[in-house]
Amino acid sequence: VVAEESASFRDVLDSGGRIEPRDEMPEGYRRTLIRQMAQHAHSEIIGMQPEGNWISRAPSLRRKAILMAKVQDEAGHGLYLYAAAETLGVDRADLLDQLHDGRQKYSSIFNYPTLTWADVGAIGWLVDGAAIVNQVPLCRCSYGPYARAMVRVCKEESFHQRQGFDILHTLAQGTPAQKAMAQDAVDRYWWPSLMMFGPADSGADSGGHTAQSMAWGIKRFSNDELRQKFIDMTVPQADALGLTLPDPALTWNEERGHFDHTPVDFTELFEVIAGRGPCNEQRMAHRVGAHRDGAWVRDAAEAYAAKHAPRATA
Ligand code: ACO
Repeated sequence: VVAEESASFRDVLDSGGRIEPRDEMPEGYRRTLIRQMAQHAHSEIIGMQPEGNWISRAPSLRRKAILMAKVQDEAGHGLYLYAAAETLGVDRADLLDQLHDGRQKYSSIFNYPTLTWADVGAIGWLVDGAAIVNQVPLCRCSYGPYARAMVRVCKEESFHQRQGFDILHTLAQGTPAQKAMAQDAVDRYWWPSLMMFGPADSGADSGGHTAQSMAWGIKRFSNDELRQKFIDMTVPQADALGLTLPDPALTWNEERGHFDHTPVDFTELFEVIAGRGPCNEQRMAHRVGAHRDGAWVRDAAEAYAAKHAPRATA
């Protein structure tokens, strides 16, 4: 843990207070927040793609309306997070450039394909379920704008999780083919969802940022702690759905008070983070294309702002 912090910064953290944009803060704290918040914002907007893929093929008007609202929510989450990151003195256009040229990351999970309608259910139930477990503690993050943005994001994510559960519940109670489709989606999304929590806390597969981020009150729990919390929460929900999770080692450990499980294959996570997941190229090409196609909107907004600027300051 680096000792570049002032006494006043440490006092705010120790008293459970919030660091606000104009407060003095260590440069490393600022950089860590920009990295994490930008990655989080990028994940929200890239995350629109796998589900957007099913808007035109949702099985009913009601499902379509819900899915459209959900995908729009993800865009909104991206906007809150880019705005929150800008309070740290960065520009969202620069953050997007860094996403587009690979200098900043987005969540590994969005590099998996959505092959069937059931995948939309699995994303809502598992991916948004994992996102909630990861993000509820971020509502207590030491950086005020990030923590406040997370409160609303988490409320919306709970709705998303319920809609995913509802899709799978309907399929699991449907025809044998529908139930098999739901099971197949869960089989494919289970392990990638566990990888969302990041690398292991220790050993050869560890990530490296957790200790410092916890000392700064950015992260409140380690990656493995949150992963375990998610597993413990999800196993009974799978039982309620009548679906199985693809891990024969999942058993309740009375002594630990947790479910035991097969270790996560972090080689796959590192491969996906390095750009070698099933859909990385497709996701980035689509994102860069959408940005390019939106250039006229940004140009028009700038021209409009320039035209009205003298009047506003007169
Ligand atoms: N996908 C892509 N990159 C990842 C992932 C992942 N699932 N997990 C970890 N990484 C990266 C980290 O960004 C870091 O890379 P860097 O050093 O090049 O920046 C490296 O792997 C090491 O990991 P950690 O030391 O664990 O990094 P960190 O402390 O940032 O923890 C975590 C990672 C848990 C994802 C954290 O950044 C976080 O909580 N972020 C906010 C939540 C978020 O981004 N959610 C997005 C998906 S949810 C959604 O959008 C619906």
